[in-house]
Amino acid sequence: MTSRDETIQLHETYLSKHKLPLFRQFGWEVVEGRREGVFFWDLDGKRYFDCHVCGGVYNLGHRNPKVIKAVSDALGHLDLGNHHLVSTERSALARKLVESAGETSSGERMGRVVFSSGGGEAMDFAFKMAKGYTGKSKILCLEGGYHGHTGLSMGAGDEKYTEAWNYKPEGFAKVSLEDLDQIEKFFDEDTAAVSLETIPATLGMNVIPRSTMQHIRKVTREHGILLILDEIQTGCGRSGRTWAFQHYDIMPDIFATGKGFSGGIYPIAATVYRDEMERVYEENPMIHFSTFGGSEIGCAAADVVIEHATDPDFLAHVNALSDYFRTAIKDLAERSNKVSGLRQVGMFQAIEFVDVATCISAVARLNTNGVFCVFSNNDRVCAQFMPPLIMTLDEAEELMGLVRQSVEEAEAQDLSSSSFFSTQTEARVLRANRAL
Ligand SMILES: Cc1ncc(COP(=O)(O)O)c(C=O)c1O
Repeated sequence: MTSRDETIQLHETYLSKHKLPLFRQFGWEVVEGRREGVFFWDLDGKRYFDCHVCGGVYNLGHRNPKVIKAVSDALGHLDLGNHHLVSTERSALARKLVESAGETSSGERMGRVVFSSGGGEAMDFAFKMAKGYTGKSKILCLEGGYHGHTGLSMGAGDEKYTEAWNYKPEGFAKVSLEDLDQIEKFFDEDTAAVSLETIPATLGMNVIPRSTMQHIRKVTREHGILLILDEIQTGCGRSGRTWAFQHYDIMPDIFATGKGFSGGIYPIAATVYRDEMERVYEENPMIHFSTFGGSEIGCAAADVVIEHATDPDFLAHVNALSDYFRTAIKDLAERSNKVSGLRQVGMFQAIEFVDVATCISAVARLNTNGVFCVFSNNDRVCAQFMPPLIMTLDEAEELMGLVRQSVEEAEAQDLSSSSFFSTQTEARVLRANRAL
């Protein structure tokens, strides 16, 4: 078997030369070996609580036995399926997905689904659909947001993601978090949609207040502008509801899911949209396909995920974990002069530090102490803290012991010699909304 050092050398030679030196600074020089439930182990046997979960991919833990069984059963008689043909698995999953969005108090529902193989592709489809359906071209997005590195979604994210590639997809305009209360000031005749992560993850898990989100929904509707919500990190039960937008009692016109939708075993993503948008296909139903999108093996994994994410007992467990961490981290913030608060909706949560240097040091200490997590890249004052949703309360207590220890050991680092911190766009440090 290839050793840890050999693997790292192969990575530096044949994959990325520049990532590893950066990762070393944060204690992320980890080669994943065995993985099970809430843990993974480095090739040299060191155990990590996975509190990154690849942005929600491992919401159900690593190698969840129910997902493994569903995928193994599917492998016994299915393959990817043919995207030109009608599929039992895709049809049944599309229905479950639409139904999982439920209905608002004013009776709004979703209607249809397009499957993709990843989150960026699902967001690309959302933008394409918004432009095609409205006949307009401008999408208003959040400064510092993130929707993937594929074509259109790249344009919807922070500018640093497009600048380096000398590529600027047209038609994306940015507004700041502070602008959201008067988003209508940015509307014009050519505005097709407003697009947001329901809770912006890369932008520090700043929680959009309920009144702001309801205002955005109200004015977009009044102006005939669509609302697109990216639920790729926030969805599939992570927020304590099936979809985070359900906390706001609103229905978007389009939303996307990915990451955790795969059950961590087989890639699949989806864009869900209102029924009337289907008219885009009227003249030519052959204008969109995805060969791997909605593969039948992926459908088997996603079916287990939706069953969990709509199960009241599962969601009650997520909320019990959320209560536990809220109390424990608020207590830590009161006792420590390094932690300033917790940004949290359900188990979508970030620990906020007093400054960037302390946060970076704490992330490194956490990793050294066997808690894998990352800072939010566009608001580096906070560490994303996303334990798997299947964590037991005993495991949560053990984890909190390591968090307390790591915070105690953290010491503000001098970051001025780091090219990452000196050459990248200055991290935004936001005055955060911490809860709904
Ligand atoms: C909010 C959000 N949207 C979209 C994406 C893109 O998903 P993918 O990497 O599967 O293309 C990500 C990935 O991190 C994400 O966090």
